[in-house]
Amino acid sequence: MKKLAPSILSADFSRLAEDVAAIEKGGADYVHVDVMDGHFVPNISFGSTVMKSLEGKTNLPFDVHLMIEDPDDYLEDFLTPATEYITVHQEACTHLNRTVQHIKSLGVKAGVSINPATTLATLDYILEDVDMVLIMSVNPGFGGQKFIPSALEKIRELAEIRRSEGLDFEIEIDGGVNLDNVQEIASAGTDIIVAGSAVFKTADIEDTTKQFVSKIRSV
Ligand code: DX5
Ligand code: ZN
Repeated sequence: MKKLAPSILSADFSRLAEDVAAIEKGGADYVHVDVMDGHFVPNISFGSTVMKSLEGKTNLPFDVHLMIEDPDDYLEDFLTPATEYITVHQEACTHLNRTVQHIKSLGVKAGVSINPATTLATLDYILEDVDMVLIMSVNPGFGGQKFIPSALEKIRELAEIRRSEGLDFEIEIDGGVNLDNVQEIASAGTDIIVAGSAVFKTADIEDTTKQFVSKIRSV
């Protein structure tokens, strides 16, 4: 079953718990947590304390997306009973295999993400070790950007690699997803779909979430 992971980057932080309650009522599967350090990406978002403020306020698991340099130094900070995935960027890890093993040693699932200009080939020697691959369909750093169409080709190729090599990682996409393009994206082979502004910058977050969920479930 395909899953929806709304990104709280576009939520109203002054009422974060209410916004997350709305996506939970709407049927979302994860809370996508976008952490930006102002170095790896040209923006600063929030750290683990903001994520942890949601503990006990939602039953949704956390899908943590670290857009930060030296992620090994901060992995433990994002460990909560609700943390299901911690994803790091291939471009930010000098010793990617070591970082992936580090994440798994914490008892959570390990994801690796690649930027739009990074090839799938850079993941050749890590695919069998990861639980998820996150394909960026915008240059990371900001919500509300336009979907980069070449990400669809990457998703199709990655799904084919997974099939031919008999692997079983999840495929996630992140950036520029909206109600108009979500079905095409889901059909390309995506398992987990992130949407930020298209969910939270709407008048009725719960209803928008329901619309997303019904579109991806029908693919
Ligand atoms: C981009 C983040 C995304 C972003 C998606 O740097 O990783 O998760 O919040 O936002 P939208 O859906 O608005 O493109
Ligand atoms: Zn993200």
